Amino acid sequence: MNFDEQFLVREAMLARENSYSPYSGFRVGAALLTESGTVYCGCNIENAAYSPTNCAERTAFFKAVSEGERKFRAIAVAGDTDDYLYPCGVCRQVMAEFCSFQDFVVICVKSETEYKKLLLKDLLPGAFTKSDLQKI
Ligand code: THU
Repeated sequence: MNFDEQFLVREAMLARENSYSPYSGFRVGAALLTESGTVYCGCNIENAAYSPTNCAERTAFFKAVSEGERKFRAIAVAGDTDDYLYPCGVCRQVMAEFCSFQDFVVICVKSETEYKKLLLKDLLPGAFTKSDLQKI
């Protein structure tokens, strides 16, 4: 199914504006599209103790999941540099919990017109998932 990827890219870039990143100065925004068409945005939220920091992607996922959403189509992620922003490993693992490896699209944004579309299966090959827990 098609979706408005340009809209998602713009929403991710807008979400970046709310970034709370006083320690790194590195702002990130994400826009997560559900199967039903709702978009949840998120930004990175840092902390003086560093490790409680939450990435933009996980902020978007946790907002959506906490509202009852479980099915997702795509996420756009926009960083604060003049380069493509790829999700960190922890965020890829969170995507693996809820998303189809074959179908979920990750849009790595460089600018409003330059972005790469990748599938989760290519970003997290050999993932550990809930199916592994059923092997015991
Ligand atoms: N960050 C994200 O929000 N998403 C990523 O995928 C990579 C890193 C944030 C975390 C931290 O606030 C800042 O970028 C620098 O690592």
